[in-house]
Order: sequence, then structure tokens, then C-alpha cells
Amino acid sequence: MPERAGSAKRIAVIPGDGVGKEVIPEAVKILKAAASKGGRELALTEFDWGADRYLRDGTTLPADAVEMFRRDFDAILLGALGDPRVPDNRHAADILLGLRFKLDLYANERPCVLFDSRLTPLKSRAEKEVNFYVIRENTEGLYAGMGGFFKKGTPDEIATQEDVNTRKGVERIIRYAFEFARRRGLKRVCMSDKSNALTYGHNLWTRVFAEVRREYGDVEASHMYIDNLLLQMVRDPSQFQVIVTCNLFGDIGSDVGAGLIGGLGLAPSGNIHPGQVSLFEPVHGSAPDIAGKGIANPMGAALAAGMMCEFLGWAAEAKSIEGAVRAAIGEGKTTPDLGGSFTTKQVGEWIAGRVAAHS
Ligand code: NAD
Ligand code: IPM
Ligand code: MN
Repeated sequence: MPERAGSAKRIAVIPGDGVGKEVIPEAVKILKAAASKGGRELALTEFDWGADRYLRDGTTLPADAVEMFRRDFDAILLGALGDPRVPDNRHAADILLGLRFKLDLYANERPCVLFDSRLTPLKSRAEKEVNFYVIRENTEGLYAGMGGFFKKGTPDEIATQEDVNTRKGVERIIRYAFEFARRRGLKRVCMSDKSNALTYGHNLWTRVFAEVRREYGDVEASHMYIDNLLLQMVRDPSQFQVIVTCNLFGDIGSDVGAGLIGGLGLAPSGNIHPGQVSLFEPVHGSAPDIAGKGIANPMGAALAAGMMCEFLGWAAEAKSIEGAVRAAIGEGKTTPDLGGSFTTKQVGEWIAGRVAAHS
């Protein structure tokens, strides 16, 4: 995204629910430290959307939100949405999926990069052997919300959920994955689908992939069914560099990938439409099992803020945040999920301090 000379980057901050409200203040602290170190200007605006607000006054995603984000913001930093008091997840679907769909954030980048070999549950794996990116289609598939109930609540009930795959949607995400690989000097793109069973929707993926790969002769293109891909990811992740897949498989695959690098607390993501306002968030959810205890790992949120910096054209700031997270892990300044005894806040402050102290 081109930088506007002299103007601050305008960031919307949505902490959301549960641990989102604990990790986002730390990510913001770290982001501010990076911006200030680099002489960058930030204009942050917080939004209190989430379960509390929804239960109080019914607000999920306000009607003018999408237009506002497009007009007034460069990027959005989000914590997580989900609360046991809202069992149907209505507010989360409206806000999170609403923003992904309505802002047309079609590319969900989910890096699975091992920072320290001690963090992987795999035996004898070096950092460089777990270093891949899941590029998840983010605007259609089984998430399109098309379907319905028939005879709901009766013994004859029927529930349908349509798997929506459009030529445009499939082509642009596959192309994005190849471009992503090229930009980073990566040599391998693996497309994963379930075209042996999903003979219409995923047949489209197979055909489009066969077409698009021809334009990228410099990149090695392969295909794996999703069941085998998840097995291979656990057995030998070093074979992957860029994985491109549909919405649901990308959701599942990125949690498995997070498991390989030390857990969900460490995994960041970017919901991106190149050149337009985009949304950055940790991969994890609101983690009700640990919420309120002050022990959630803020590194996924911090790294998401780092991805946001990169998107905004602040490469040095992105690098500095990632370097500080690596240093925190190296020095054991971590929350209990990574074996440390630091609180969320202590980790956030340590990383922010490190960012401020190092170039
Ligand atoms: P979750 O990601 O919230 O938690 C899964 C496991 O990972 C839990 O054991 C949790 O303690 C752990 N974990 C998550 N974040 C952590 C962190 N920062 N530090 C340390 N450990 C962490 O998934 P879930 O339990 O299936 O879902 C809880 C709620 O979050 C649900 O309402 C779900 O719909 C929602 N959710 C939201 C998002 C999002 O907003 N992007 C993502 C996933 C789940
Ligand atoms: C994620 C989450 C969401 C998803 C849920 C909360 C709808 O799991 O961001 O990974 O499935 O996309
Ligand atoms: Mn998920």
C-alpha cells in the first residue's frame, strides 16, 4: 500500500472478547513502541464491539462500519470474538465474518513459522523445517452462509450448508498464492482440496489450479488432498512452503500448523485485500478456558501487528516486532503455554521494551 507522506496510519482496534481484550493492549503497546522507534505516526481508534456490547444493546457490526473502514482507516487490528454467553456466535459471525466478506478480504495469510526448535511437538525438527504459509480463501466456500433449515426441530429436519466456489474467487486466491511465493522467493506452492469427493466445487479448484500454474513456471506446483496434506504436515512439514486452500480447510490447517510451531498463542494472521483496508488478528479465539487469568500469550497478536506493519509498508517495524518476539522466546520471557512464568502483560512489556531498545 502506498504511504501517504506526512500522514499517520489510521488503525481501528477491536479487542473483542475473552483473551482478545488481554492480548490486544499488549500488541498495541508493542506497535506503538515500533512506530515511535521508527519515527512513524499512528492514529488509533478503539471499537468496543464484542459480546458485552451485543448483550447490552444488540450491536454487532454497525450498518455504516464497512463504509467507515474503507473511508477512514488503513488497517484493522482485532483480538478475538466468541463468548459462552452467546452460544450461537451471532455477534462473532456478524463482526468477524462480516468484515472479511464485506471488505472482500479474500486472502487469509497464516504463517506457520517455527521460531525455536524447543517449541515444536515434533521430534528433532530444526526451525527451518517448519516454515510454511497457509493461504486460506477467505470469502466463500462453506462459510458463505448459504443454506437453511427445513422442518426445523422435527424428527424430519433437514439442514443444508452450501459450498460456494466461484471461478473468480478460486482464481484470485490461487494467483495470490503464486504471487506470494514469488515475492518471498519461495519455490513451492501446494494446492489442497478434496476434489475426489467434492466433485463439483473442488473440481473447479483443480481446473483453475492447472490453468494458473502454467503462468508460474518458476514455481513448483503440486496438489494434495486435504486429508493427506494434514498427515504430511505433521509427518514432515519441511516439504511445504506455500499451501493454498479453501476457507474451511485453511481454518483447520492453520490450527494444525499452529500446533507445530508452539501453539495458537503464537500464530498470527492477515485478512488481506491488496491495496485496500485489511484486517490483522491472531489465529486463536477468545480462549474462554484461560480468559481473565492474565496468562494468554500476546505473541500471536503482536506478530499480527507486525504483519500489519509490513502491509502498511513499515518493513523495519515489522522486522523489529518479529525480532523482539524471537528474543523473548529465546530468553524464556514467555507465558505458561510456552513453558514460561510471565503474565500476558509482562511479556507485552518485555517485547515493547526490546523493540524500543533495538533498531
Ligand atoms: P481458541 O483459539 O479460543 O482456544 C483453543 C485453545 O488454545 C484453548 O486451549 C486456549 O486456551 C488456547 N489458546 C488460545 N489462545 C491462546 C493464547 N493467546 N495463549 C495461550 N493459549 C491460547 O478456540 P476455541 O476454544 O475453539 O474457541 C473459543 C471461542 O473463540 C469460540 O467462541 C470460537 O468461536 C471463538 N474463535 C474466534 C476466533 C476469532 O475471533 N478469530 C478464532 C477462533 C475461535
Ligand atoms: C478463525 C476462526 C473463525 C473461522 C471462526 C471464529 C468463525 O476459527 O479465524 O480461524 O472459522 O474463520
Ligand atoms: Mn480457526
